[in-house]
Amino acid sequence: MREKQSSQKLKAYLRQLYAKLAAHGTANLSSAPIPCGEELARAFGYHTSVLPIPKKAWRLFAGCGNPLEEIRMGPHWIVLDLGCGVGIDSQVAALSMQPPGRVIGMDITSEMLYQAKGYSNSNPLCHWVTGDGEYLPLRSDCIDLVTANGSFNLLPHKEQALTEINRVLKPGGFLSLADLIAVGEIAPIIEGFEDAWSWCVAGALTAEEYDILMSSTGFTWWELKKKSSYGPLAAAHLLARKGEEDQARQ
Ligand SMILES: C[S@@+](CC[C@H](N)C(=O)[O-])C[C@H]1O[C@@H](n2cnc3c(N)ncnc32)[C@H](O)[C@@H]1O
Repeated sequence: MREKQSSQKLKAYLRQLYAKLAAHGTANLSSAPIPCGEELARAFGYHTSVLPIPKKAWRLFAGCGNPLEEIRMGPHWIVLDLGCGVGIDSQVAALSMQPPGRVIGMDITSEMLYQAKGYSNSNPLCHWVTGDGEYLPLRSDCIDLVTANGSFNLLPHKEQALTEINRVLKPGGFLSLADLIAVGEIAPIIEGFEDAWSWCVAGALTAEEYDILMSSTGFTWWELKKKSSYGPLAAAHLLARKGEEDQARQ
């Protein structure tokens, strides 16, 4: 019960913080600003000119990598961008789609979704939904790709979130996560520090913890690639598939 209360408190804190970020268009709201912006996106390999969005939209990009970079999407895929923020990855995914393909950009912070909707110029391929990544408001076996960029670490109950992701994926569907992982000792005090959660630090798992969680939540194939290192943390990309390994490599 106490755990539930504290995770609700944490979610309320994160919602408030990202609502402020959406409203002010800047991360410089505290002594520990959330890393975000166009430069960061470029460093992850985004070609910022491919999207018809203004520069101020890129200011709200707060990802930890480029989870769509290595995925070739089918034109009719249904994609869920979990914790979509201002919706950059949703819009990138929509570039390679045509009806009935579509992207569902989902976020717990409705103020962020409001911005995402505005910047997508009401693209009919993008649907914006307020929701919590631990309780996906979707039926089972309906999604071809779940992507999450810098949002998975913010979920306090990762086993529940992965179980939900596995449930909504179609057999053979993909999960592509970009986030920070723990590769060294993170000072224990950071665990209780809310800003450390908003920075994707306190919620970071080790590669071994990912292996345990992925297999306990029903995934049979995944690979975790470490990208750049930042002291005890590293940016990483996890690609997984609901299905067997030989299917995943087709
Ligand atoms: C670091 S930002 C990343 C946003 C976006 N993916 C990007 O690349 O710019 C994390 C996002 O996750 C959202 N978020 C936090 N907790 C969430 C939850 N429990 N369910 C869904 N979204 C959540 C926040 O509101 C925020 O927009």
